Amino acid sequence: MTNTPTAHNSAKAGDFAKTVLMPGDPLRAKYIAETYLENPRQVTAVRNMFGYTGTYKGKEISVMGGGMGMPSIGIYSYELFNFYDVDQIIRIGSAGALQDHMKLMDVVIGMGACTDSNYAYQYGLPGTFAPIADYELLNRAVETAKRQGTNVVVGNVLSSDVFYNAMGNVNDLWRGMGVLAVEMEAAALYMNAAKAGKKALCMLTISDHLYTNEHLSAEDRQLGFRKMMEIALELA
Ligand code: ADE
Repeated sequence: MTNTPTAHNSAKAGDFAKTVLMPGDPLRAKYIAETYLENPRQVTAVRNMFGYTGTYKGKEISVMGGGMGMPSIGIYSYELFNFYDVDQIIRIGSAGALQDHMKLMDVVIGMGACTDSNYAYQYGLPGTFAPIADYELLNRAVETAKRQGTNVVVGNVLSSDVFYNAMGNVNDLWRGMGVLAVEMEAAALYMNAAKAGKKALCMLTISDHLYTNEHLSAEDRQLGFRKMMEIALELA
């Protein structure tokens, strides 16, 4: 590939595995690489957005931070799909729950990602695009979770551009449409995958509940994250 390294990624062609796990926080990417991967090596650190490649159960896999929000994950995932020959990106993040039946630590899989973002404008479509997960990855994640005894909730999530919303509480409207949880990246990842003809999946641990106002403690955050990681690693 002639486009590597890029302005945002110092890795060379061939440095990334075909599967990349993508937490938002680059320090989480470092932690995952050091905790779960065999022989991890750092392949990029531009702007401290760390990326690593190693093996898991003998299979090559990479992990890289994606940052917060759609412009950020949009850049990193675009370059991985289009310049680094990556086939699938699995976002592993956190989300705020919108439904009463959801609890802290639940693992949510975004089958679809609604959005208040204008990200799809670039495609010039004569209508509204529905960003969705890759079905095969989704199905395998659900099967893996069942095998591991982890309960997962599958459905729509909301990828929002706005954390502090000047319009006040718009959550009721999304909640009324059955949307499970709010995060800030999945829709852009799904659109980039669609446009590149690649695969993507977004898995989320519920870190806060927007109707009960509960939040995960630091230890529970780690535990909930581990359950999700153990599913994601099997998808490589
Ligand atoms: N990620 C985790 N909790 C969130 C929230 N309440 N809104 C947006 N993204 C989140």
